[in-house]
Amino acid sequence: MPGKVLKSFKTRSGKNAILRYPKWEDLDDLTKYVNEISRENILVSFSGEQRSKKEEAEWLANLFKDMEDNRRVQVLCCVDKETAGRGTIGTKTTMSKKNQHVAIVGIMIRKKYRGDGIGMVVMKELIEQAKTFLRGIRLIELSVFESNKPAIKLYKELGFKEVGRIPKGLKHRGKYYDEVLMVLGI
Ligand SMILES: CC(C)(COP(=O)(O)OP(=O)(O)OC[C@H]1O[C@@H](n2cnc3c(N)ncnc32)[C@H](O)[C@@H]1OP(=O)(O)O)[C@@H](O)C(=O)NCCC(=O)NCCS
Repeated sequence: MPGKVLKSFKTRSGKNAILRYPKWEDLDDLTKYVNEISRENILVSFSGEQRSKKEEAEWLANLFKDMEDNRRVQVLCCVDKETAGRGTIGTKTTMSKKNQHVAIVGIMIRKKYRGDGIGMVVMKELIEQAKTFLRGIRLIELSVFESNKPAIKLYKELGFKEVGRIPKGLKHRGKYYDEVLMVLGI
């Protein structure tokens, strides 16, 4: 299953891209990718800090275990063998059995690949994976900075609805923002 190709497509600007599951050989590039985005210090939870190769390996090992249990899945978009972006969707990791039908989704596209249609293709595949790969998912949930307009526009285009806000629930570069909660029933 690791490395399985899910789809080939052309980006809006005509680049050849594939969607696939990650594999161990991605470790170096994924470590680079995650730290590159973190250094941008943008509106995502992993911002500012750096992750070592060992930490990314532990993260990947946990992911592969969750994928074996059909609890969580990650989709990479690769262009010219480079990770252009990745998205992850999985059941909530709470102790409660009452919300195991709810999945949480997250996505990050590398800066040079943004605005080329990749985020839309990855999100559509994650929704498909929630229906076919994860078990018993009925609802997809996400949380986003109120100021992250590109992300909110993308989610709305996919049918996500804003269901609430936590006033000043997120902080970035010393400023407080509303945390926008969005859901999609599947
Ligand atoms: C948000 C993000 C995932 C979108 O992915 P992307 O590949 O850049 O988006 P796409 O090119 O597929 O565009 C899809 C839609 O998103 C919206 N969008 C993308 N970039 C946008 C921008 N700069 N401004 C406004 N809307 C934008 C548009 O609605 C677009 O649809 P369109 O075809 O009508 O233009 C990507 O920009 C990203 O990874 N950003 C940094 C990390 C992040 O913010 N992640 C989300 C955290 S909740």
